[in-house]
Amino acid sequence: MLRYVTTNPGKVREAERYLPDGSVERLDFDYTEVQADELGPIAARGAREAYRRADAPVLVDDAGLFVEGLDGFPGPYSSYVEDTLGVERVHEIAADLDDRRAAFRCVLGFCDGEGFAASPDPVDRGERDAAAAAGPEADESDDEGASARDDPLPVKLFEGYVPGRIVAPRGDGGFGYDPIFEHDGETFAEMDTDRKNAVSHRGRALAKFAEWYADR
Ligand code: IMP
Repeated sequence: MLRYVTTNPGKVREAERYLPDGSVERLDFDYTEVQADELGPIAARGAREAYRRADAPVLVDDAGLFVEGLDGFPGPYSSYVEDTLGVERVHEIAADLDDRRAAFRCVLGFCDGEGFAASPDPVDRGERDAAAAAGPEADESDDEGASARDDPLPVKLFEGYVPGRIVAPRGDGGFGYDPIFEHDGETFAEMDTDRKNAVSHRGRALAKFAEWYADR
């Protein structure tokens, strides 16, 4: 059984649409969101932590809104910015920009404690890469380097992306930044769940994952 790691039950319902019946359940676990300027390392760290907690295959997702005219802000800080500034303030800030293009991105991190065969999707080897980057001396002499090398836990990453633009809030559905994100003439908050799933960053990442997971 695959554990989808989230405090948001809506995300598991989305995942169920892509995976065989009864193959996924929610693990209500708030993994540590490390500070990083990319989503991949955050999802990878979360997947390692959740795998150690669950001792079963886990899928972690990390998402964010990237506004082009703000150099990608709030990006990996989307959650913090939603809680502090709020979605309407993000729209107000973007309203002054010439370029209001934006994208939602989602990275899914899968970990089941095993390695992965080569494929186009990236594999994060986090600590192992860090130990390798520190060089052979650090690897042999430094305790942290040695323990990292012994505990690589690879995580496979699946990315989804949807382009759009920031608009004044419209619509009552969805969550988070949905009311201010317009794709193809509709905000995500104006779309029903099926329509949003069909185009969303998470839906696209889940579709890639489901195709790969069928052979795992
Ligand atoms: P998380 O990684 O799912 O916790 O999401 C990070 C931030 O992006 C939170 O503020 C979410 O509300 C927001 N977010 C993620 N996915 C979506 C989405 O599909 N629609 C709107 N906001 C989203």
